[in-house]
Amino acid sequence: MNNPIYLDNNATTKVAPEVLDEMLPFLKEEYANPSSIYSFAQSIKKNIEQAREKVAQLLNADSSDIVFTSGGTESDNLAIKGIAYANREKGKHIITSSIEHHAVLNTCKYLLKQGFDVTFLPVDKYGIIDLKELKKSIRKDTILVSIMFANNEIGTIEPIEEIGKIVKEKGIYFHTDAVQAAGKIKINVKKLNIDLLSISAHKFHGPKGVGALYVKKSVNFDNLLHGGHQEKGKRAGTENVAGILGLGKACELAIDYLNDQKQQQKIKMLRDKLEKGILEKIPEIIINGHPEKRIDNTLNICIKYIEGESILINLDLEGIYASSGSACTSGSLEPSHVLLALGLPHEIAHGSLRFSLSKYTEEKEIEKVLEILPEIVQKLRNLSPLWKEKKI
Ligand SMILES: Cc1ncc(COP(=O)(O)O)c(C=O)c1O
Repeated sequence: MNNPIYLDNNATTKVAPEVLDEMLPFLKEEYANPSSIYSFAQSIKKNIEQAREKVAQLLNADSSDIVFTSGGTESDNLAIKGIAYANREKGKHIITSSIEHHAVLNTCKYLLKQGFDVTFLPVDKYGIIDLKELKKSIRKDTILVSIMFANNEIGTIEPIEEIGKIVKEKGIYFHTDAVQAAGKIKINVKKLNIDLLSISAHKFHGPKGVGALYVKKSVNFDNLLHGGHQEKGKRAGTENVAGILGLGKACELAIDYLNDQKQQQKIKMLRDKLEKGILEKIPEIIINGHPEKRIDNTLNICIKYIEGESILINLDLEGIYASSGSACTSGSLEPSHVLLALGLPHEIAHGSLRFSLSKYTEEKEIEKVLEILPEIVQKLRNLSPLWKEKKI
């Protein structure tokens, strides 16, 4: 097969060559345990601290507030359970949204079983939470609001600045899952009044299995892993040195990207070209997510009368890789909880397809998709009784 066309960058991204170069020495020669006191180890410890600085720079945070973790899932768990366990005397109420990633949703559901109370805020047809609803659901015993920065399936960006203001006024902690926002939009934790923020390296050209949690100094939170004193006691376990340095390098590259208007415009231009082309060439399409408040790389559509999975299989045969929902749920046949929360009926949500681009996406790849997708849709619709009867 010719070069495959990878348009599933919200699931994971290609490791940037610069990131790999940064990591390799730490998988070969520089293998000491950074907790050891000899010089061989201490130089590695210095490298880890430099990586911490880079993560902090990406978020406009203090580097002493960055805790390295194994990725987005651990960061979300650490933030939510960490706050819940440390503040249970103060209150047991948590507010989140109905379109969070499962790393947040299932953590909250687990806490429900442990006697916590959770409000899952609804969203509008674009996936945006209602700030009035948020205000109304804050109670005396609310300890945490956890709302994602940008949604992984539809790309919608939540009103984080406004949420930060509301939550600060009430003296509650504010966590945001910024796994899909980091490296795609500028983030300033101080300006946005964010207390805790999760990121994951593999979503922005870093390696898998490493991430970070920003935790503001004043936050009262419990650690989940008990063991050694790594990460100032906030996350025990020998550091994933190569991963951490890869994350640091990915942050450095992300800062360059966010300061480069041209690169950002290129992704947006290609995403918009794909969207426009699909709307022109294929009838009965629904675009999901907010038209403007959306990360530049994401296009989520519903192709009525056929199943997203059938389209994916046909695209795969042509060497085009996309997704029919969140990577973590694509094994299940349940329609995406995010699309259902937007108010889409099951039959339509089943026809969803997500294309997510990266800085490595090329115009000719988008043109190829625009050539092949309409043919696949036509073929599948010709086989679909729903299409023939146009029942939906
Ligand atoms: C919004 C969001 N949060 C959390 C995660 C989990 O991150 P990780 O794969 O690093 O555990 C993902 C991954 O898809 C995500 O998109």
